Amino acid sequence: MTGRLRLGVNIDHVATIRNARGGDHPDPVRAARIAAEAGADGITAHLREDRRHITDRDIERLMAEIDLPLNLEMAATEEMLEIALRHRPHAACIVPERREERTTEGGLDAAGQHIHLAYFVDKLGSADIRVSLFIEPTEEQVAAAVRLGAPVVEFHTGRYAHAGGEDRTAELRRIADFAALAIKNGIEPHAGHGLTFDNVVPVAAIPQIAELNIGHFLVGEAIFTGLDASVTRMRELMDSAR
Ligand code: PXP
Repeated sequence: MTGRLRLGVNIDHVATIRNARGGDHPDPVRAARIAAEAGADGITAHLREDRRHITDRDIERLMAEIDLPLNLEMAATEEMLEIALRHRPHAACIVPERREERTTEGGLDAAGQHIHLAYFVDKLGSADIRVSLFIEPTEEQVAAAVRLGAPVVEFHTGRYAHAGGEDRTAELRRIADFAALAIKNGIEPHAGHGLTFDNVVPVAAIPQIAELNIGHFLVGEAIFTGLDASVTRMRELMDSAR
C-alpha cells in the first residue's frame, strides 16, 4: 500500500466530558472541525447502545456540519443498522459491544459469528457504506473477514499498546503479518485502539496499513496542549514513519 496514511480522529471522549455535566460543552462537532483543520482525514464516532458518550443528535450534526468522511462505529444490532442506513456515513466499523466494558476491549469474533455478521455486512455494503470489521490480528479473523466479503478490517492494537518489551515486538509482528495477509486478499487494513505519541510510529510504519483511528489519547492530550496541537503532532509522527 502506498500513499498517505490516513488519520481518523475519534471524538467520543469529547462527548464523555460533555455528558459528565449534561450540557452542550465541550461540543464534539466543534472538536471534529478543529481536528479537520489540524490534518485529520476522517472523523470516527461510536454510537453506543447506552449512549454514554456520542448521541444520536451528534451523529446527525456530524453528518450535516462536517465535510470529512464519518466512520460510524457500531454494534451489529438492528437499532444501529437502522441508524446507519438512515444517515449513510462514509464508513461503518462493526465493533463488539458489552454494556459493562469501559471501552471496546477486544475484537469481533468474526469467525464465530459469520451468519449474524453476514447480514450486517451485506445491508451496509448494499447502501454503499464502506464496512470495516474491528478484529484481532489473527489468521482466523482475517480469514473470516475474507469469507464475509468485508472491504476493510481494523486491527485492534490494544494488546500491542499495553504490551512491553518482547511481547510488544511480537504483537507488532502479528499486526504487520496480518496486514499483509489482508492486502493479499483484497482487504484494506486499518488499525486503532490505545495508540499514543509513544507507540504510534511502529504501527504507522507498517506499509500496508491505510488508516489509524485514534481518540482517547488525543482528547486527553488536548487538555494540556489543545486539540489542534495534539492532532498536528500525531499527524507529524505518522508522516515521519512513512
Ligand atoms: N478503533 C475502534 C474500532 C475503537 O472502538 C476505538 C475506541 O475504542 C478506537 C479505534 C480508538 O481507540 P482509542 O480511543 O484508544 O484511541
